[in-house]
Amino acid sequence: MGPTPTPVSSLSSSSSRGMNTYKGKKLFTPGPLCTSPAVKQAMLVDLGSRGKQFMACTTYVRQSLLEIAQVNPEDYTAVLLQGSGTYCVEAVLQTTSPRQGAKVLVLVNGAYGQRMGKMCKHAGLEMTLLEFPEDQPIHVPTVERLLASGERWTTVSIVHCETSSGVVNPVEVVGHLVRLHQPQAALIVDAMSSFGAIPVDIDGAGIDYLVSSANKCLEGVPGFSFAICRKQHLLSCQGNCRVLSLDLVDQYITFESTGQFRFTPPTHTIVAFSTALRQYQASGGLQARAERYKENRAILVEGMKQLGFKQLVAEKDSGFIITSFLVPKHEKFDFKELYSKLSDKGQVIYPGKATKAECIRVGNIGHLFPEDMRHLLTCMEEVLRDMGLPIPLP
Ligand SMILES: Cc1ncc(COP(=O)(O)O)c(C=O)c1O
Repeated sequence: MGPTPTPVSSLSSSSSRGMNTYKGKKLFTPGPLCTSPAVKQAMLVDLGSRGKQFMACTTYVRQSLLEIAQVNPEDYTAVLLQGSGTYCVEAVLQTTSPRQGAKVLVLVNGAYGQRMGKMCKHAGLEMTLLEFPEDQPIHVPTVERLLASGERWTTVSIVHCETSSGVVNPVEVVGHLVRLHQPQAALIVDAMSSFGAIPVDIDGAGIDYLVSSANKCLEGVPGFSFAICRKQHLLSCQGNCRVLSLDLVDQYITFESTGQFRFTPPTHTIVAFSTALRQYQASGGLQARAERYKENRAILVEGMKQLGFKQLVAEKDSGFIITSFLVPKHEKFDFKELYSKLSDKGQVIYPGKATKAECIRVGNIGHLFPEDMRHLLTCMEEVLRDMGLPIPLP
């Protein structure tokens, strides 16, 4: 269920002239996420996609992403792609799969891993889905047994933070095992909700493609996604992609030769992202972002515990991006009512995405601060009491 923006009850005179009629909310969700006033402000400019200003902005964004990824620009490149994160995951799967003989191993412990499997199915790619329980990280010895079995895959893919539960997978350990047992395979990491806050040694772990998007930990607005790609591998994929718009090699070659996107770029989103990147660096980069998110989550988890909520995932396996709380077993608990009453107070949470356990999810990434988490908890308590639920919950 996606939250619908609530039009401000009465249209103001400015709204009748076509101005914004929507009232912003605090988004405790896996995306879209809250952005800073400066990021929103940055979009108030129309730039031509072939103009010097916009091309310089694109170059700055691509270079900055490599710096954040801590990879050598000699070996890696950042390829931007129009569309949400799913588009870029699909583009990487398509681009790395040869037209003949492709075989993809997908490691799955949640909805986003399942989605990669679905992408392979849509593309008619042969695949192996290795599934694990959704409340735990993938089981490394089981993965290693399969990798060492003698079977060969052209691509291995894994999600870093499974945002459907909050579990963080040991992608670097898996990376080393893939390089050891499947040296020929492209290794893809979907780091959508973790890039910029949870560090990954991309080159050291043998990762060929790491995917994320503008509106996650780097706090831009939605509209494009990107892959940090090992150049040598990317260039070996020419001619693979069956979908023109998802062809990452073509996109890369065009960026390099013209400095431009192939098709209409989300100019406002890219400009906003360059502001988000400057704010990210000025506020202390990855370490500072991780600290803020950790603090946000600590406040959330403690407050939710006091209200009586229990977590789906053991603390040792939870990252600090998003938390799944089990739905309390009480006849008066109704997620839709909770969601809508919280939303009326300007607080947006999310339904669970775990398939086997009923949950609610609360994220703490985006332009959110400790005081926002405290305010959410106050609102949560008010709404639960209003619904007639006992505190602490049973
Ligand atoms: C790990 C992961 N992969 C993929 C996606 C899909 O991204 P999008 O919704 O931007 O298409 C998400 C979205 O939250 C995600 O968290």
